[in-house]
Amino acid sequence: MKTIPFNKPSLIGNEIKYIRDAVRLGQLAGDGTYTDKCQRAICQLTGSAKSLITHSCTAALEMAAMLCDLKPDDEVLMPSFTFVSTANAVVLRGATPVFVDIHPETLNINPEGLGQYVTPRTKAIFVVHYAGFPADMDALADVARAHGLYLVEDAAQALGSTYKGRPAGSLGDMAAFSFHETKNIISGEGGALTINRDDLFGRAEIIREKGTNRSQFFRGQVDKYTWVDVGSSYLPGELIAAYLFAQLEVEGAIRARRLSVFDAYMEAFEPLAEGFGVTLPKIPPHCTGNGHMFYFLMKDIEARTHFIQAMKQGGITTPFHYVPLHSAPAGRKYGHTPGPMPVTDRISDTLVRLPMFFDLGSDVEAVISTASEILDTPQ
Ligand SMILES: Cc1ncc(COP(=O)(O)O)c(C=O)c1O
Repeated sequence: MKTIPFNKPSLIGNEIKYIRDAVRLGQLAGDGTYTDKCQRAICQLTGSAKSLITHSCTAALEMAAMLCDLKPDDEVLMPSFTFVSTANAVVLRGATPVFVDIHPETLNINPEGLGQYVTPRTKAIFVVHYAGFPADMDALADVARAHGLYLVEDAAQALGSTYKGRPAGSLGDMAAFSFHETKNIISGEGGALTINRDDLFGRAEIIREKGTNRSQFFRGQVDKYTWVDVGSSYLPGELIAAYLFAQLEVEGAIRARRLSVFDAYMEAFEPLAEGFGVTLPKIPPHCTGNGHMFYFLMKDIEARTHFIQAMKQGGITTPFHYVPLHSAPAGRKYGHTPGPMPVTDRISDTLVRLPMFFDLGSDVEAVISTASEILDTPQ
């Protein structure tokens, strides 16, 4: 039986050529030619003032938490419907993630009523752009501004998406991107932090370089380099950067290909969704997506379990996620959930994702026909 995975990483452009070139250049540690090329490309794609590549989005989120100067007992508002790294970054600083509910259509943090969860200890809002669709950043910026909070985008899934014509990554004080092999643009593991405030950039460089002013030293701005702040090792080597640059060069083509898969799913399921009892994604107003993910919502958890199992029998992997952080063991231990979470709980029980990757090709038809057959057959 032919199987169709959920994700498959692809060589798309000059990855191997650039890795050879990085070896030829003879500098394999970070901050070389390819790191610089990646950072310029990311600034161009996101419209951000500065970018620093990192080992992962997790690392970029940890840097963002340090740049927000989070201290023990500080609080950070965030959705519970997210990957663990959004919350871990906060917990590692001794601060508390405060989990709030998501909007039922965007699946992003709901700005309505968010202000009621702000306390004197609240320092930041960490926003997730779920499935690559940007959150309602104007409304969130209003809340952040009203209470003097940092606004951080967890843009792990959102490279290439826009909100009111502005790219994800340029919408908050900082944004964290992922280049993990499951994302649109990949380097195996990888990430970046974009920084949109001049006053944060110097410290960001230091945090990424183990708390030293090494970057200033190499620019000739200081005559020796030394330990000046808290920091860690978040800088990837040049081989990773070489692979990443080859992918960033063709971001537009990768996005277009993925969007064509997204559109094929939408076109196929739109006329059938009601009859199948499924709810399709709603593209939030004023946003463009990047084809990162295609999901739909099922009637209940039983219907979803049946669907996933039946798809598996047909050789097609269709995973669910997330276990909401507010109900996860570590979320209960380290986090705080001040209000009800009905939308998060319902979405996490009913959401299922279909295969989506650059080389999916005509297999999209097989996914559509197998899924349609299962959805059309009474349980
Ligand atoms: C919303 C979100 N945040 C953070 C991450 C972590 O990314 P990375 O694996 O690059 O650390 C992911 C990865 O799936 C994610 O989806």
